Amino acid sequence: MTGSDRAAVVAGLGSWVPPTVVTNDDLARHLDTSDEWISSRTGIRRRHVIDPGGSTGDLAVEAGRRALKSAGEERADIVVVATSTPDRPCPATAPEVADRLGLGGVGAFDIAAVCTGFVYALGTAAGFVQAGFARSVLVIGADTFSTILNPADRTTRAIFGDGAGAVYLRAGAATEPGALKGLHLGSDGGQSDLIQVAAGGSRQRSTGLPAAAEATYFTMEGRPVFAEAVRHMASSVTTTADAAGWAVEDIDKVVLHQANARILAAVAERIDVPLERFPANIERVGNTVAASIPLALADASADGELLPGQRVVLGGFGGGLTWGSVALVWPDITAA
Ligand code: UT7
Repeated sequence: MTGSDRAAVVAGLGSWVPPTVVTNDDLARHLDTSDEWISSRTGIRRRHVIDPGGSTGDLAVEAGRRALKSAGEERADIVVVATSTPDRPCPATAPEVADRLGLGGVGAFDIAAVCTGFVYALGTAAGFVQAGFARSVLVIGADTFSTILNPADRTTRAIFGDGAGAVYLRAGAATEPGALKGLHLGSDGGQSDLIQVAAGGSRQRSTGLPAAAEATYFTMEGRPVFAEAVRHMASSVTTTADAAGWAVEDIDKVVLHQANARILAAVAERIDVPLERFPANIERVGNTVAASIPLALADASADGELLPGQRVVLGGFGGGLTWGSVALVWPDITAA
């Protein structure tokens, strides 16, 4: 295989959500909200949350184990965990995940790009494989936003859920189904305040004063984020399809970050691709941040919606702000 023929190929897919379910009615028992408001504004009906004592790493290990099983592999050269809710601020979560998966002393690191984390991680991992620095990479997206939400914030509580999803990438040929192509990444740090946890990093620690409790919670300005999500995911998907050599109307499935069912509909309208081509599991899991795209892939694959040979574009948008997308022909794999 020459350098230009070598590609990173998706060869396994796994996902995991914690068993505890919180329905819209459960939220409405403690907050001024309703199933009607949440489902009509977001498309979400329930979400999964970790129990006290659980962690992002726990979910990542489960999803990673399933992706390895799906690929029929027991090892990977590198483990990448995309997360904004690491088990601890320091060190990264990935080394412990790699250890718990029995992968020994392999390279392991985290990537932080919030809801675009999985796309950023896939792109990074693909770079290692394509350059010949690794033969395989386990790419995991995992988040537990239930641990950083303000219990009194009805908007974020309604949206976010916990989960993990993982893909096994191996070296292969650019012409194979599963080969990643047309990666596009973007960011707008000028709008970093729209989605944030204000304290816990160097800025609010370096004052020496303890942070106010509210500053340790996740906040999001929903309206502007909505508009930016539609704008950037639409243009990113178009850019990636073009780079892959596909006309937008030739895309069989657009698997987007599941932030809001209305965002999926607005992107579909903007790029003029039928909404039926946008798999959605948001009703069942909510917005699971870095886990969102691989969870949507796993569910669409299990539901028979995502089929081998289909032209697929994955797209994300989130805090940073960040966005990105990548294209592939869906491989013949079984999600675990
Ligand atoms: O994952 C990263 C990217 N994230 C996104 O893409 C999220 C993008 N944003 C959104 O999905 C939507 O903006 C939200 C779902 C967050 C909010 O929906 P919205 O239609 O934009 O509502 P809004 O923020 O404009 O609020 C409308 C009203 C407000 O009341 P007033 O001021 O009109 O009296 C809110 O206080 O709805 C109220 N509201 C709620 N009411 C009942 C907000 N959350 C709730 C709630 N239950 N859970």
